[in-house]
Amino acid sequence: MSKVTKKKSETKTKNTRAAKTTAAKATTIEPAEPIINQRGRILQEYGTVIKLPIGLSESICLKSVNALNEVLADTITIRDMYKKHHWQVAGHTFYQLHLLFDKHYEEQTELVDTLAERIQRLGGIALAMAGDIAEETNIERPPRGREEAPVQISRLLEAHEIILKECRQYAKDADDIGDDGTNDVLVSDVIRTNERHVWFISEHLVDVPMVEAG
Ligand SMILES: [Fe+2]
Repeated sequence: MSKVTKKKSETKTKNTRAAKTTAAKATTIEPAEPIINQRGRILQEYGTVIKLPIGLSESICLKSVNALNEVLADTITIRDMYKKHHWQVAGHTFYQLHLLFDKHYEEQTELVDTLAERIQRLGGIALAMAGDIAEETNIERPPRGREEAPVQISRLLEAHEIILKECRQYAKDADDIGDDGTNDVLVSDVIRTNERHVWFISEHLVDVPMVEAG
């Protein structure tokens, strides 16, 4: 670019900036007025990690982030399935299942936050929105309609097993690459909580007599 053309280009950029500033000032009514309908650039693309000073390489962080996002998608799905079943459960065990499903919903919600914040702490981006979760989850989508309690519990047990199997593999992978924090979250939080949930709900599918011994 010639000196003259470069100077013309710089002047044009300055003029454009000045025009934008003047326009912004002209449309500002009050300093306290909220500036709404804003959009902007993406700070970080999904699927990337930023380098944080935590003593782990970017490739290790990326591997753990990808694994954690898969567990997160399945954990959000089972959490929401618990709430669906909490609302829709029917029958003579309604009261206890209604309460138990909500307790597990709350505990899965805590896991969601733990997993998402672990992902952010590794420099990654946690999945969040329902549409993205639906695309990523490995858990079968239940129908919109109400189902019988044994079917609700069966669906939950299948979902728990998917999460437990993937967590055991990912915990081992994290251990192998030296990511102790991710290994700890998967074992101490996700695996232990899911195993306890399996125990509590699977006992409801044991067909024992309620009044007279068989
Ligand atoms: Fe409720």
